[in-house]
Order: sequence, then C-alpha cells, then structure tokens
Amino acid sequence: MATPLAPPHSEWLPGHWYIACRSRDLKRKPLVRQLGGLPTVLFRNAQGQAGALLDRCPHRQIPLSQGWVQQGALTCRYHGWQFAIDGNCTAIPGRCEGPPKTAHRASAWQVCEQQGFVWVCAGEPGAQPYVFPGLGDHTFGHFIWEVEVPASLLCLAENFLDGMHTHYVHAGLIRTPRKRQRMQVEVERSADGVEARYLNESTLSGLIYRLLAPGVRRLDVFGRFQRPGLAQLEYRTDRGDQLYISVFGVPEHRMQTRAYVVTTFQTALPHWLAHGVGQPLFALALYQDKRILQLQTQTLQTDGQAHFVSTELDVLGPHIQYLLAQGARPASPLIRRLEIET
Ligand code: FES
Ligand SMILES: [Fe+2]
Repeated sequence: MATPLAPPHSEWLPGHWYIACRSRDLKRKPLVRQLGGLPTVLFRNAQGQAGALLDRCPHRQIPLSQGWVQQGALTCRYHGWQFAIDGNCTAIPGRCEGPPKTAHRASAWQVCEQQGFVWVCAGEPGAQPYVFPGLGDHTFGHFIWEVEVPASLLCLAENFLDGMHTHYVHAGLIRTPRKRQRMQVEVERSADGVEARYLNESTLSGLIYRLLAPGVRRLDVFGRFQRPGLAQLEYRTDRGDQLYISVFGVPEHRMQTRAYVVTTFQTALPHWLAHGVGQPLFALALYQDKRILQLQTQTLQTDGQAHFVSTELDVLGPHIQYLLAQGARPASPLIRRLEIET
C-alpha cells in the first residue's frame, strides 16, 4: 500500500497529534472540520475505522464532504471516484484501463482513536496522542465539553492558565479582588512544555471553591501547557481531592480554536453532586472567558501590529508563545521562582 499523501502545509506543529472530533460524533455520514486552516472530511470505512482526508477531490477539487460513503469508501459526487480511509483511490467509474494509480489518491492525515477522540497528525508522528488523566478510570468522575472559541490557541491557553484575570473576569466566582494572598510560584520549563506550581495556597475566595471544596484549607495548584495544544489546571487539596481541567485547543484558523474541555475529578463529594454543582459553574466561567477573548480577538484582527506588554505576573504566556512558534527548537529547561499576590 502506498504511503498516505500528507496534507499540504497547515498552521499546526508537524509530527504532533491533534483532536479532530469526538469518536461518538463520527457516524455513517462524512463530517467536516477545519484543521489547522485546512478543510478536512472525516468518515468511517466498513470496519468502522476512521479516516481524515483533505476535503478536495484530486480530480476536479470538488469538496469530498459533499459526497457519500458507499461500502466504506468516500464517493465524490461529481464523477464518482472513490477513496479509502488512507486516501487511496479505489475506483474510477467508467475507466477500462486498469486500477487507479497513486497519482489519483487524496491527501490523508494519519488517524487513530484514543479515549473517545479521533486524533489526526500530519506527516510522521513524533509521539503518541496525549492521554487525559483519569479519563476512563471508574474511580474518577468526568464531564467533557466541545466549544468553539473566537481566539488564537495562544490567547486561549494563556487565558485559561492565567490566575490574574480571575479577580476581574470571574469576580466572586473564582476569586475576589479584595482577598489576595502573597505566595511563591515555581515555573519549570521542559523541552515540550511549561508548568507553574502554586503550592500550599489557602482556599480561593470564590463561590466555586466554597461549594465544591467545603472544609478544604490548603490547595496545590499546577498550571501546565504542553505542545501542541494542552492547557491544564490540576488541583490537589489537603483532604486528598484531585481535579484536572484539561483544555485541548485545536486551531481551526488563526483566530478560531476548537477547545475540548475534559474535566476529571476524584473528590470526597459524591460524583453526581460534584458534577451537578461543578458543571454549571464551570460553564459560567467559560462563558465569561469567551466574552473577554472575543474582545481581544476583535482588536488583534483589526490591528495586525498590536503587541503585548508583559510583566512577571504573566507567568506562562511568554513560554506558551515560544512553545507554539513554528520551527522553534525545544525550549531549554529552566526553573524560576517568583513572588506574586494572587
Ligand atoms: S471531481 Fe471528484 S470525481 Fe471528478
Ligand atoms: Fe478565566
């Protein structure tokens, strides 16, 4: 079998796995997604295996997503060429000159399924897809959202991991501006990621913590970013609760990111209660963040020269910017300690 023809250059970091969709959303019909600026069609073959092709027929560039799946092959609606999940052309109706050739194949992503997601990679994968902690472990509760955010991956990830906006954008919900505490933050950067550790923080002042962590006195909070698009907050409490909010951001265009928000938790509260209380509060926080990001994107779209002025309180943003830069070499390890009022 011929090697799949990789899609043309996209905005993604090469060799990394990105989420294309949730497994449960890919059924019999072709599904369209924008992946790194490239229109992509996903479908399943007769055995249920997933494929992802550039959404253009190589013959006359008709979107393949306008066609249909027939006996596991994606069929173009113009002249009926058929394609397998690896992009190989399997039939050209009316042609008597022998089977289709590799020249007739469509561009295809590498595809795999893991933890209920369809993952895609352009070219040769350099590593495995990310594994969400606790997802699939029956001792953890979980909820998953998929949300389109009008922002670049950089702005989305920085916003999610930035503690200093929470006093304003989420006033009362996560923190309040009046109750700040001085603390040490340790930042550690590795080749493919960066982590900020806020250890031994006394419980945060917002409603979420009062409802979800009653009786908790101290928290360790970890904020992480990992290539190509994982932003994660991990909370550990002094009574042994553990909560991960993992946002896997997939750039659709330069200023539009599809975020898969995977929340997994082990807590002293019954799972149904943590789920019932946590989900609407987290949804409110997400809505508040979306609104502020929308304002930021409006400015960045109208002024291409706009740049950011940072202080040491922008703990992770500059690292994320470096890690997301196309062609940036793995960042050199670094450990830094700073004092902030959070
Ligand atoms: S354009 Fe697809 S078969 Fe002709
Ligand atoms: Fe936020």
